[in-house]
Amino acid sequence: MRAEASGPLTGRAEVPGDKSISHRALILGALTVGETRISGLLEGQDVLDTGRAMRAFGASVERVGTGTWRVDGVGIGGFQEPEDVLDHGNSGTGVRLVMGAMATTDITATFTGDASLRSRPMGRITEPLALFGAEARGRRGGRLPITLTGAANPMPVQYATPVPSAQVKSAVLLAGLNAPGETVVIEQEATRDHTERMLRGFGARVRTEQTPEGRAIILTGQPELRPQTIAVPRDPSSAAFPVAAALLVEGSDITLPGVGLNPTRAGLYITLQEMGAGVALENRREEGGEPCADLRVRFGPLKGIEVPPERAASMIDEYPILAVLAANAEGMTTMHGIRELRVKESDRIDAMAQGLEACGVKVEQGDDYLIVHGRGPGGVTGGATVASRLDHRIAMSFLCLGLAARQPVTIDDAATIATSFPSFVELMRCLGARLTG
Ligand code: S3P
Repeated sequence: MRAEASGPLTGRAEVPGDKSISHRALILGALTVGETRISGLLEGQDVLDTGRAMRAFGASVERVGTGTWRVDGVGIGGFQEPEDVLDHGNSGTGVRLVMGAMATTDITATFTGDASLRSRPMGRITEPLALFGAEARGRRGGRLPITLTGAANPMPVQYATPVPSAQVKSAVLLAGLNAPGETVVIEQEATRDHTERMLRGFGARVRTEQTPEGRAIILTGQPELRPQTIAVPRDPSSAAFPVAAALLVEGSDITLPGVGLNPTRAGLYITLQEMGAGVALENRREEGGEPCADLRVRFGPLKGIEVPPERAASMIDEYPILAVLAANAEGMTTMHGIRELRVKESDRIDAMAQGLEACGVKVEQGDDYLIVHGRGPGGVTGGATVASRLDHRIAMSFLCLGLAARQPVTIDDAATIATSFPSFVELMRCLGARLTG
């Protein structure tokens, strides 16, 4: 697919439901006896794969309309043994959370995924799950496929996460649901807290305490979960792409209704303000236990900034698109403390560095940092074909870059975008983006 210099982007961009919240809604619905109703569910491949896994464990998961789903769950400890291998496609969140959810039930399941997912580290999940008594066997280096046998007599666990990861935290909390007593996760940096919020919504007891070791999240095991009605807010990480495109293409002015702005996810929007971006948050409100707002975004020049490392967790998925914005800013943008980007759907530091260089942008990369030397508004040369590396966010980032570059930017594979944002191309074209192929 090819992106070319476009005229002003205008109109309304209704981005799909939040991916993180959609996975959690299906999983918690499946762990709850009775009917949970979900509206605004993201119908991207990642989430559909989680839905399929929930069915394989015995829950009824039914689509009743666009984005509207019904889950009839089996209850905590009620998962049946799946008959076949569970394929989680491209989704690290899907496979890690589902492993957590089954780790304290005495059944065996085998998990796999696509080439990207099979290369990602799973030891970060299987190690804490072993503390509950679960046993995992996988490939060398803790890679998928992995066969996991859940604990027959689970013990509650206290676990300090060695990496800032909401997936690890969530897997431990979901496993803790079927352990008696209190399961405690301690994280040094606050990562997205959708699991904690949703667990409370379903009726579990979850409290947080500040301790000398970090933020402790304490779950009381074996709660009575009650079925819920969940309205999924729109995904701030998906919104970041049309937002960035509008900031880059001269004359643009777009609105995005109902975008989730949970503070553990909203780091990009602080960064954009510091860069001088014209992003207004209007009509701030709460929907389904999550803060959200309407965004109005207008084109304007951006300046390079230093992004503080302590902000990384709250915008971890937004660094690829930030690097694109930085390439079009005046001056240099430095991003430190982003080592985790090396183990996402692709090595995102390297993918961005290589792709930007091919488009004529000077970058520097290190183990945990990326520095982009901005070329000013409209200053990126483009004219390259960039590898998406089975990574939806790399694909969308370079298409946004092409909309404001001097020569078109091509990506070798746009199919990967459907994992998180199936309507991306159509939505961008409706705003006026020139995407072909
Ligand atoms: C997610 C957590 C993050 C993020 C991913 C979604 C989640 O991963 O990158 O896209 O829903 O919990 P890590 O937990 O590996 O940081």
